[in-house]
Amino acid sequence: MIVVKLGGSVASNVRRILSVLSSTGRDILIVPGGWIFADQIRRLNVKDEQAHWMAILAMEQFGYYISSFGVETIKPKDFEDIEFEGIKVLLPYELILRNDELPHSWDVTSDSIAIWIASKLGIDNVVKLTNVDGIILNDRVVERIRASQLIGIQTCLDKYAPKLMVECGMDTFICNGLFANRVKDYITKGRAKGTLVEGR
Ligand SMILES: Nc1ncnc2c1ncn2[C@@H]1O[C@H](COP(=O)(O)OP(=O)(O)OP(=O)(O)O)[C@@H](O)[C@H]1O
Ligand SMILES: [Mg+2]
Repeated sequence: MIVVKLGGSVASNVRRILSVLSSTGRDILIVPGGWIFADQIRRLNVKDEQAHWMAILAMEQFGYYISSFGVETIKPKDFEDIEFEGIKVLLPYELILRNDELPHSWDVTSDSIAIWIASKLGIDNVVKLTNVDGIILNDRVVERIRASQLIGIQTCLDKYAPKLMVECGMDTFICNGLFANRVKDYITKGRAKGTLVEGR
């Protein structure tokens, strides 16, 4: 199974992304970002504890949006329930409520959640689809970098993700979802334009 974190930043290209993912013939679990729904919550200045659950519900909202393009959702209660063929969109609220292991803070968003879920499923890499060509450092897209080097550095990953990747030995491939052929290349050929962040 492949875990693909689909960011709200590429919401405009969801139809094409789904069609390309489906053409790979692989089993793919889509973990939605929080998109505009999470941004709304950020503006409210709610306490971290409540904002955490509100933001996970924001992921569910974007999940239903993705699903409206013709892919089914799954709402597992536990990791053992995540078993399927084809492409599914994860609605993560119930799963996280029952497996409440991540810190309740804005440092932890859907990137960390996707990494944590992949790790729980015994998968060692995540694909993050976002609206940039990869991790940009000193105005250049980096081809590969160790997750440990990104701890404390602002990138398109959330703040907690690099640390979590080191802890659970997870790689993340950052890929521009506005050019959907790249994710196809990565899945089918193991190589594509983007950044490989190595936690393994
Ligand atoms: N060093 C960096 N390298 C790459 N992108 C960066 C960096 N610093 C900040 N960013 C910003 O991160 C943005 C992508 O992250 P953002 O959280 O906006 O979207 P997403 O993670 O795809 O979606 P969602 O928030 O719904 O999960 C890019 O548009 C880019 O401007
Ligand atoms: Mg984000």
